[in-house]
Amino acid sequence: MPDHDRCQFRGVYLLLFLLIEQQWRAILKHSSTTEFTTTPQATLHSNLTVATTTRFAYAFLVAGCDPVRPAYRPFLSNIAVATRLLAHHGSQADVIVFVQMDFRSSHEVLPENDLLLLISSSSLRVHIHYIPKTPFQSYYRTQFDKFRILNFTQYDQGILFMDADVMPLTNLDYLFSLSTTDARIKNNWVVAGPIAPANGGFFLLRPTHGAFERVAALLREQTVSNRIFDSVQGWGHAVGPSDYWETRTGKRGREWTFYAAHADQGFLYHWVKYEQKDVTTIVGSRVQNWGCCDEHGQVQLESAFPLRDIGINLTHDNTVSWQRKPPLTCWSVPGKECLPVYGDFIHFGGRRKPWMKPPPANLTRATQWDSPNHLWYWTYWEINSELGLNLTASEWVTPEDPPLGLKPGKRQAFQGPPIELSR
Ligand SMILES: *[C@@H]1O[C@H](CO)[C@@H](O)[C@H](O)[C@H]1NC(C)=O
Ligand SMILES: *[C@@H]1O[C@H](CO)[C@@H](O)[C@H](O)[C@H]1NC(C)=O
Ligand SMILES: *[C@@H]1O[C@H](CO)[C@@H](O)[C@H](O)[C@H]1NC(C)=O
Ligand SMILES: *[C@@H]1O[C@H](CO)[C@@H](O)[C@H](O)[C@H]1NC(C)=O
Repeated sequence: MPDHDRCQFRGVYLLLFLLIEQQWRAILKHSSTTEFTTTPQATLHSNLTVATTTRFAYAFLVAGCDPVRPAYRPFLSNIAVATRLLAHHGSQADVIVFVQMDFRSSHEVLPENDLLLLISSSSLRVHIHYIPKTPFQSYYRTQFDKFRILNFTQYDQGILFMDADVMPLTNLDYLFSLSTTDARIKNNWVVAGPIAPANGGFFLLRPTHGAFERVAALLREQTVSNRIFDSVQGWGHAVGPSDYWETRTGKRGREWTFYAAHADQGFLYHWVKYEQKDVTTIVGSRVQNWGCCDEHGQVQLESAFPLRDIGINLTHDNTVSWQRKPPLTCWSVPGKECLPVYGDFIHFGGRRKPWMKPPPANLTRATQWDSPNHLWYWTYWEINSELGLNLTASEWVTPEDPPLGLKPGKRQAFQGPPIELSR
């Protein structure tokens, strides 16, 4: 479900783009194993071509952060859980965490324990980037801060964005390799959900040079105040008669009327399909590859194949971390078929978040795969005890909604000044 629940917002002045990881690495005990660098760096076996460089990354976003109102904390914990699970299953990626402090907060940065949680929950290198605070913070506007990943062009094999309530169940690094091992696969990936052709909570973009500037300009032009979202023109492209969008359940359409078309999901779909003209979409049991162009210069469906064939064209010199290893259990897939992508992560939409309920009573190492909540809490307890955070379950359970709510309300759209990512 394309829920976008997390604490959130974005910013207008106050450019503070702090890189605090370095100080932290000096303090924390895990610091000696890796050096911080702003460019991709080979880490392990320097002569293997793919798995040994970090030219790809995972990204998360948490906004509305105010240390005195800790409803944002479970989302940080989820990022820690996600990072740990990725590392545990062999990921070699970097992790970018975008953080935006609540405009009402007197704090400009996260407290030390929060940083400890994010940076030391796994062996992966975690980079924290603050988004400037903004008085125009809203769930709606925060959705677009996801596209800040495009400014990180050093990750030229892609950045996979996940909402801060997504839990990966296996190593997802294989997604970054597919476009180099299978000529049909495109540089950008989106996954269709039941009510939208692109899930804004899980997508992979290739940050090419100029892409971020283009996205920032498009958003600036398209989000002028009091605009009414046009369900034919969408974000600047009327879908032609031979083209369509399609949801996981097979619903097709040409109007920009699917869930969150006026928000991040519509913008994402517009960006990968009509601006980049370069996208692989996972639609139910099929993979569709859209590329440029037909005789009218329009994006066209170049190929489609069954989802279960993903990865069969891997060449032999790829290392194991680049091949998909199905998770032990695929809760999200009916019939427990471990199909790629859909079965590889859990999106805790709406109020289904583990931290809105007490931990399972029978939680042990042996029961950790009994349910998504078991896995979440078990992984979290491991981090908790390893880092000595001393958190108890009663501090944990938060019946509270995230600081900015649970969805991008239509009334929030096109309020305030145009969206400006480049500040
Ligand atoms: C991938 O494998 C399938 C099945 O063997 C084959 O039909 C297809 O042409 C291959 N694609 C590439 C790009 O090698
Ligand atoms: C643990 O509890 C879950 C329900 O939360 C149940 O499905 C599972 O079977 C239990 N496992 C054991 C080993 O009792
Ligand atoms: C956790 O508790 C232990 C023992 O009570 C204490 O030494 C430690 O400083 C605490 N850690 C944190 C992060 O508060
Ligand atoms: C984008 O990246 C460039 C180069 O690293 C940096 O100078 C700039 O501040 C970044 N812009 C934003 C909005 O983060």
